[in-house]
Amino acid sequence: MTRAELPTPALLLDLDRFERNLQKMAAHVTAAGKKLRPHSKTHKCPEIARRQVAAGAVGVCVAKVSEAEVMAAAGVRNLLITTEVVGPEKIGRLLGVLRRQPETLVVVDHPDNVHELGRAVKEAGLVLNVLVDVDVGGRRTGVQPGEPARDLGREVLAQPTLHLRGLQGYAGHCAHVMGFEERRRTSKRWMNRLMKTRELFEKHGMAVEIVTGGSSGTFNIDVDLEGLTELQIAHLFGNGFLQSLPQPAREGDARWQGPLSSTQRPSSVHL
Ligand SMILES: Cc1ncc(COP(=O)(O)O)c(C=O)c1O
Repeated sequence: MTRAELPTPALLLDLDRFERNLQKMAAHVTAAGKKLRPHSKTHKCPEIARRQVAAGAVGVCVAKVSEAEVMAAAGVRNLLITTEVVGPEKIGRLLGVLRRQPETLVVVDHPDNVHELGRAVKEAGLVLNVLVDVDVGGRRTGVQPGEPARDLGREVLAQPTLHLRGLQGYAGHCAHVMGFEERRRTSKRWMNRLMKTRELFEKHGMAVEIVTGGSSGTFNIDVDLEGLTELQIAHLFGNGFLQSLPQPAREGDARWQGPLSSTQRPSSVHL
């Protein structure tokens, strides 16, 4: 089939560039002693997720249960649902995901949600891996850092079917701060909330084996955070990354090449 014969709209991925970007980011994260769990919100595509895992990612993040269902059904493992799963309908669907992929992780930021998850998972005869979601300035989700987060962690520990694994903190608002030094300063300040919470968890003997966060726009800043174990970078392949990231990220940094494009007749449209 030629380009002109493609039924449109069509999403085209330049595989060479995709793989180059992916390997470059995987090497960058591994060199810092961290893991990569890319956010799949930008592609929502199991085939891309599989390739990300093949390139060294520990798994992928998804934003919500319906995305986890698609990934789990396609055999993608080690999913992290980065937004709280609340209410009986979604929790019922989460149980379906867990039956397929038992190591799936969820995040919590409220005791009521901890209790409803604990009850549902117990009734289903399953166990569930849980991270405490900390608000690192985005004011979208997350419990306040420090003692409120520790107290929520204790709620998780009190549920026999919930397995506390660590923390999540996503400071995406820092990604668009112009100027590398200013971006680094802002990001460090907000992510310090997560690092301090990690210290408190450790002090109380609570699990911190996974401390996850990080954004595309701070990929070369988050790696310096000692307590962060993995990065959730989403824009590993798309042109959107080039457009959204203040460039150059740092003097001398190579620009990431965006391989994703969509064509539409009669005129060509690039996403
Ligand atoms: C929790 C979480 N992690 C990671 C990401 C990916 O961030 P970015 O697009 O900055 O790479 C998002 C994006 O919204 C997110 O909500």
